[in-house]
Formats: sequence, C-alpha cells, structure tokens
Amino acid sequence: MPLPNLRQFLSHPIRTKLVIASRHPLSSEQMPRTVLMCPPTFFDVREPKNPHMGLAIDRVRAQHQWENLQRSLRDAGLKVELIDPVQELDDMVFTANQVFVGQHKLGKFIVPSRMRYASRQKEVAFYVEWFRRKGHQVIDVDLQGEYLEGHGDLIWHPDGSRIWAGYGFRSSIGGVEKFAAAMAGFGFPVTPLELVDKHCYHLDTCFCPLNDAAVLIYAEAFSASSVVEIRNGFERLHHLTRDEVLQFMGNGIVVNGRFITPRLTPNLSQILASEELTPVVVDTSEFEKSGGSVFCMKTFLD
Ligand code: ARG
Repeated sequence: MPLPNLRQFLSHPIRTKLVIASRHPLSSEQMPRTVLMCPPTFFDVREPKNPHMGLAIDRVRAQHQWENLQRSLRDAGLKVELIDPVQELDDMVFTANQVFVGQHKLGKFIVPSRMRYASRQKEVAFYVEWFRRKGHQVIDVDLQGEYLEGHGDLIWHPDGSRIWAGYGFRSSIGGVEKFAAAMAGFGFPVTPLELVDKHCYHLDTCFCPLNDAAVLIYAEAFSASSVVEIRNGFERLHHLTRDEVLQFMGNGIVVNGRFITPRLTPNLSQILASEELTPVVVDTSEFEKSGGSVFCMKTFLD
C-alpha cells in the first residue's frame, strides 16, 4: 500500500481517540476546521526586521519543513487552503500577519493590517483580495498611520469571546486602540498587552492560549500590568523559560487535542501533559531564521 494511503488510514482512528481524551474538548463551534497557508517559494531573509534575522536560509530545507507542517495540520484534522506566493514578497509565507480574521453575527470578516515594514505592507493587498473573493467582509479600520500586524499580535481567546492584543514593537498602541474601537462595535473586548522584550516582538512568540482556562507565556516579555491582565483572563498560567521562548516554543498551534511545536523540553512536555495536549514536533529551523515558527505560518479561517 503506498505510504499516503496508509497514513490516511492510520490518522483517523488516532484523531478520534485524541479528541475524546481531551480534558477541555472544544465545542464544534470553537473547533478550527480550515487554515490558510502560503507556499515558501519566494521565502528569503533579506531585510532584518527582528532580532532573530541574520543567517541565510536553506530553501530546499524550508520547503520540506513547510510541507511537514502542512501534513501535520492535515493529520490533525484540518483542511488547508493556499494563497499563491508572490515573487519578491519574501515574508508572505507568514500568513498570520496580513489580516485579522473574525466572525460576527453577520458573517466572516477581516481587518487588513498596516505592517510596520514597507516591504511587508505589499503583502496585505494580495491577502485582502483572497479573502474578498472568499466572501469575507473587509473592515478597513482607519489606522491613521498607526500599525497593526494581524494575528502576529491579535489573538482570540479560545472561546471567541475576546481578543488579546500585543503592542510595542510591531503593532502600535494607537493601532491596537483603533482596532479595539472597531471591535467594540461587534461586542468583542480587546485587552492590550505591552511587549517589552525585543526578541518577543510579536505577541504570538510569547503568549499561547492552550484552552479557555490555560495559557503558555513568557512573563518577562510583558510589562507588569500586562501580566496582571493575563492573570485575570486565565485560571492557569504556564511559564516558558527565556531559552524556550527564544526557540519558539511559545509559538505553537493548538488543534484538536494536539500542540504543534518546533521542539520540546521536559518543562513544556509536563505543561502539555497537565493540559492533556499531545505534542507534535515539526522542525522549523529555516523559518526561525526569519523570526517565525509554526503559529506564524498559518491563519485560522473558521
Ligand atoms: N520575518 C517576519 C517579520 O519579521 C517574521 C514574521 C513572523 N510572524 C509572526 N506572526 N510572528 O515580519
């Protein structure tokens, strides 16, 4: 039997078991079903935009790693949609950044980003067009020169009731405030979180909700008052070390009882076990040279 068939054959019973085993099963409404990815055809590291950037990438290895991530998402039960890569747009593979995706009473919507770097700003129009064709309402928040970087800094609480919003390095407080004013109209409260460690330049590098009650964080990446906000929002805070966070273990994807991560330590394994999540390790070394890992390379569509 060819390998893909065998894999398909094997993945279904395992998936079923994992979902049943979860202590915090997601309701079908919360369960993400589709993600958007962008092939890394033109991925490169040229202009340094964050402190992780500097080393040259291996394009062949990057392609393999991206395919492994795509396979892991499919194995976890997700449908993967693709947007065409565009030549010269070397960060387009990081699909978490160009728009914020949400759903209100009238349907699905996006809020286009205003990226801090001009080179990345060009990516936004391609994504907006993709979402417009799919029927998403486009909510253009008048950012008046402020910055907002999509799900790099804007993360839904797992129950979809509120949004956590990082600012300081990429999104600006003004951008987050203007976004918050727009979301207030739909009944979604936005909690701004101030980022203070330049290696944790996006919220998704140091803040990863595991379920409605638990979050994985690197507390030192936040101002003291922001840590208080996080404490008020989650019953359980699980702490990563600086070393773990610099190796992108705070950039995981929680999906159907699994936690997709670029690597594991005894500390992270123990945290995941306590929240009944099964780790799935996917190497992302090439993308880390650009400052991103698994979470940055997808955006949830529902
Ligand atoms: N090189 C990209 C940048 O600095 C990496 C983006 C990673 N994305 C993320 N959601 N953290 O813009």
